[in-house]
Amino acid sequence: MYKAKAYSAASATSALAGDTIARRDLTEHDVQIEILFCGVCRSDVHQVRNEWSGTMPTVYPCVPGHEIVGRVTKVGPAVTKFKPGDIAAVGCMVDSDGTCPECKAGLEQFCDNFVLTYNFPDKHLGGVTFGGYSESIVVTERFVLHVPANLDLAAAAPLLCAGITTYSPMRHWGVTRGKKVGVVGLGGLGHMAVKFSHALGAHTVVFSTSPSKKDDALRLGADEVVISKDADAMGKHAGSFDFILDAVAAPHDMNAYINLLRRDGNITLVGAPPEPFPIAAFGLIFRRRSFSGSLIGGIAETQEMLDFCGQHNITSDVEVIPIQKVNEACERLVRSDVKYRFSIDMASLKAE
Ligand SMILES: NC(=O)c1ccc[n+]([C@@H]2O[C@H](COP(=O)([O-])OP(=O)(O)OC[C@H]3O[C@@H](n4cnc5c(N)ncnc54)[C@H](OP(=O)(O)O)[C@@H]3O)[C@@H](O)[C@H]2O)c1
Ligand SMILES: [Zn+2]
Ligand SMILES: [Zn+2]
Repeated sequence: MYKAKAYSAASATSALAGDTIARRDLTEHDVQIEILFCGVCRSDVHQVRNEWSGTMPTVYPCVPGHEIVGRVTKVGPAVTKFKPGDIAAVGCMVDSDGTCPECKAGLEQFCDNFVLTYNFPDKHLGGVTFGGYSESIVVTERFVLHVPANLDLAAAAPLLCAGITTYSPMRHWGVTRGKKVGVVGLGGLGHMAVKFSHALGAHTVVFSTSPSKKDDALRLGADEVVISKDADAMGKHAGSFDFILDAVAAPHDMNAYINLLRRDGNITLVGAPPEPFPIAAFGLIFRRRSFSGSLIGGIAETQEMLDFCGQHNITSDVEVIPIQKVNEACERLVRSDVKYRFSIDMASLKAE
């Protein structure tokens, strides 16, 4: 066991503050990573503030962060894919049983025994896992990923959650050239969805509550932008979408988007506000539409997504911040004031 600097929250109402945590000594399959950048996901804020108390109550102190990019410092004797000095990445999961049908299908995110990167029981040290708002992490090799060499590391970090969470459902639902795709909510996830939908060749329409984001949406690859408060503009798209990805972090009218789907169209929800949604039966029954959810993506697909980003030169649009500004960044996220992901430069933690 060794000590590492981190930022943790002591309760649902406390600010994140400097702390020291324990990391495990390497077992034979472990990779030790010096964290260089960590993205700030809206999920970090939900979890730190215990907004998901009904499903995943937060254990304090909580060290969030699951968009991790860093440099390998040490490897266990059985590690074959990484060596000290390599650039490596870790996303939302750090372990799973590896033996159940979900794991065998490469869908570790649906394994009953998976371990999330933070706030999950830590079978090595007891207590809960601690995430990437830290100078260092130790993760079993199976959950460590390679970052294509051409990608900027600060801007690549958000791919580990915002990237895979939007890429996976788009691949699952067959987003490709000739399809009409909607993206609801232009935040961290939404802006990645626009980039992927555009790169996959689909006609991409952004739905935003923020008129100020219109030009950005077009720059990011959208073909059209609709301000969702404008009922006439929404009505023009009725019954026309093959697929809509909803990445909004707050309650909103789902039925307005279901009505935009064509026959057999699907809307997938990745946003995770804690409140339930009312869904109108007839919106789904007519046109045989479907409404589904999606959770991050498996490890093999995460590597596929990173490689796709390398080939297409896709990264997140980031505002790089020192960790001392992380509380301000969380406040700004809640106000939808981010273009389009905060990425923490972990050199600022080392200097503390
Ligand atoms: N399913 C998964 O595996 C998974 C993975 C990661 C995150 N998530 C969840 O996905 C959600 C989005 O995360 P994120 O990091 O992308 O958050 P984010 O950067 O804050 O983006 C959310 C966007 O939603 C829109 N929005 C926010 N409040 C709204 C409101 N009251 N009404 C309508 N629109 C609103 C805003 O876009 P506009 O300004 O364009 O309207 C905002 O930029 C969170 O709930 C997060 O926990 C799920
Ligand atoms: Zn996330
Ligand atoms: Zn499993």
